[in-house]
Amino acid sequence: MMQPKLTSKVRATDREIGEVSKVIVDPLSHEISHIVVSMNGNGERQVPMTFVQAVTDDLVELRAAAGDILELPPFKRDDYVTTHEVEIAHLEDKIHVTPGEVLVPFPELEKSVKRRTFFMNFTHVIGFLIGLPIAFPVLRYLMKPMYSPFDNGWLKIGNVSKIKQDDIGFQFKYKRKVKEAYMPESEIEKNVWVLKVTPAVQEKIYQGKDMEFKDASGKTVWTNKKDFPYVAYSGKCPHLGCGYKWRQHKVLGQVFLCPCHLSIYDASGKVLDGPAPRALDSLPIRVSATGEVEIIDMEFKAGTKSQIRII
Ligand code: FES
Repeated sequence: MMQPKLTSKVRATDREIGEVSKVIVDPLSHEISHIVVSMNGNGERQVPMTFVQAVTDDLVELRAAAGDILELPPFKRDDYVTTHEVEIAHLEDKIHVTPGEVLVPFPELEKSVKRRTFFMNFTHVIGFLIGLPIAFPVLRYLMKPMYSPFDNGWLKIGNVSKIKQDDIGFQFKYKRKVKEAYMPESEIEKNVWVLKVTPAVQEKIYQGKDMEFKDASGKTVWTNKKDFPYVAYSGKCPHLGCGYKWRQHKVLGQVFLCPCHLSIYDASGKVLDGPAPRALDSLPIRVSATGEVEIIDMEFKAGTKSQIRII
């Protein structure tokens, strides 16, 4: 079947009811899930693709009567973002409706925050990350005499008993003290995702090799053994550093989804979709005899294919 186009006329079984004003795309499957129909002055309705009988060049025919379509809930613009607001170019390439509004559902998990706040946070992140590559060498230069190598201390983040199921992402939050030259010491809140992994996922992560972590000087500070059943991923998306979440998807199953530009990762951290340039960043992890999970908090440069440690 052809894809519905913006401004195509929409006809119910009994009469013409309006035109396509937007299309809604499922960010995971890349399929159009709904069309939004502007109802000739009766507001907009969000019509599932299952209602669509046929699509021709400039007409969308529905298998329901005009009355049934009017009964559908009105379209709520706030539940969606356009693919321009968040750069999801790969979706627009797939969906042949340019120019105009291609929408994707506003991430479920972010719905509790207001749209404005969400985008304000987003801008903030971008500003920060654009600033970072310039600021970092300068800061490092200025601080040279007192610049110390990376902090490779272990941080306790919680007990392993909190993880109830294998291959399921569990988020641990922790605080880290930061001390910049000339600035008072402060604390920032951070998080990591920890999974107890089955051998199949373990194999995908390690591919038969232990994972080494290095100091600024290139010296190995820790090795995650390939048969150790726990993994920790840095809470920052390797694309541009947003926080991501563990979500259920009806086709892909359980995945990590980053709401900023919709990068998707599986339990092994592998990129399944979206603009992320590399897999999720694994961190050094160990578990004490009493089940205390400890990590070394490392950060890697966002947006690069290879992993470049910055903290
Ligand atoms: S920050 Fe862009 S996809 Fe995560």
